[in-house]
Amino acid sequence: MKNYRKTIDKLNSAMVRDYRCVNLKTNWISIDLPKLTKNQLIYIVQQYSWFPRNIVGFLGNSKAVANRYNVSWLEVVNELSRNICEELGSDTKGISHYNLLKDGLREELSIDIECEPRSATYAFLSYLYSQKENSEVIAGATYACESSAVPELVVVKRVLDRLSVLSNGRELSRDGILQKFFDKHLGKWEPGHEQGLLKAYEIYIKKQHQLEDFEHGFRSMLTEMDLWWYGMYSESFAF
Ligand SMILES: [Fe+2]
Ligand SMILES: [Fe+2]
Repeated sequence: MKNYRKTIDKLNSAMVRDYRCVNLKTNWISIDLPKLTKNQLIYIVQQYSWFPRNIVGFLGNSKAVANRYNVSWLEVVNELSRNICEELGSDTKGISHYNLLKDGLREELSIDIECEPRSATYAFLSYLYSQKENSEVIAGATYACESSAVPELVVVKRVLDRLSVLSNGRELSRDGILQKFFDKHLGKWEPGHEQGLLKAYEIYIKKQHQLEDFEHGFRSMLTEMDLWWYGMYSESFAF
């Protein structure tokens, strides 16, 4: 459907132009990276980890909405099930992506990511779990989450490379768990999630009012992500 693809293109351009968090050149943390201390970066990584830790919960909620409001969104339900299984380890010998991140951070950077969520992260998680409005709004928010995953992980990788320089005197090891985590997410898993949802939503989102709700959901996710990233950045100075 032409209008759907047009809206998607427009939103994907807006993502890196109207918002700052998923753009290396504008994310508050990535542009200030050389000035941030090791403790600040550890704080940011620990807080960030709450997102991968909760992604399955968010996707599960999105799937429940797609199921509940309109049972005919079967392709979306199937794609979200596939995505959730991948997050939980279908492609990684049963080890979830969150556990890969957790193990990699402990092994290579001696960081324990188990921590309390502070206020910015708490607010972001509350937003994630409040997404129960209608199928189109949560569709837009879910698509934003998957579409922003690659540029967001590029920022996260940059943060971890900097932490590795500060801790180990060099960037992340080429053959460690973390490098594999990023290679697979950037090259395979996240592009697959984005494309899978793009195709699945296209089947059901056809009318102008649906596209408007989708856009509202997409933009609300990025607004919340901006607030969250800026919040983690500013909290790191108080830590
Ligand atoms: Fe993942
Ligand atoms: Fe994903």
